[in-house]
Amino acid sequence: MKTAICYYSKHHGNTLKVVKAMAGEGRAELFDVTARQPACLEEYDCVGLASGIYGMEFHKTMVEFARQYLPAGKPVFFVYTYGGARGSGAKAVAKVAEEKGCPVLGEFSCKGYDTFGPFKLVGGIAKGRPNRQDLENARSFFQNLRVQNVHD
Ligand SMILES: Cc1cc2nc3c(=O)[nH]c(=O)nc-3n(C[C@H](O)[C@H](O)[C@H](O)COP(=O)(O)O)c2cc1C
Repeated sequence: MKTAICYYSKHHGNTLKVVKAMAGEGRAELFDVTARQPACLEEYDCVGLASGIYGMEFHKTMVEFARQYLPAGKPVFFVYTYGGARGSGAKAVAKVAEEKGCPVLGEFSCKGYDTFGPFKLVGGIAKGRPNRQDLENARSFFQNLRVQNVHD
């Protein structure tokens, strides 16, 4: 199953760590949505949309990317990291997926080191996250997605 995972990960690269764990050993191709050339997502069987949580939701860049480039009907899954309050999580991208008739395969989230605003003064929150266990959980989430999809 050919999988693309598109990510926005700018604060500490937390989300990137998670999607790298998923994509280990060539299991998926990763695309930074802030790179100039958008991925041609038509050629993938399934697309992951991944972002840190910024102001209680996926970064706007990712939501806009999904609006522009997510092909209609493409199976999708969502991945995000957050410091402590995930807010509406993947809701905005899930809405885009719904509008485009994309089946949602699942969602993975975990905490990610956060030094935004006042948290910087106390050395940040969710230190050391994502940790080994988070990355292990991310890998098994992704493996299960694949199995589920392959047998569909
Ligand atoms: C501008 C900004 C806003 C943030 N807003 C939230 C938030 O609303 N809730 C939360 O739990 N974490 C928030 N965080 C923390 C990030 O979600 C967390 O550190 C995440 O792992 C960052 O992912 P990244 O390193 O992949 O960009 C915010 C961080 C920044 C820089």
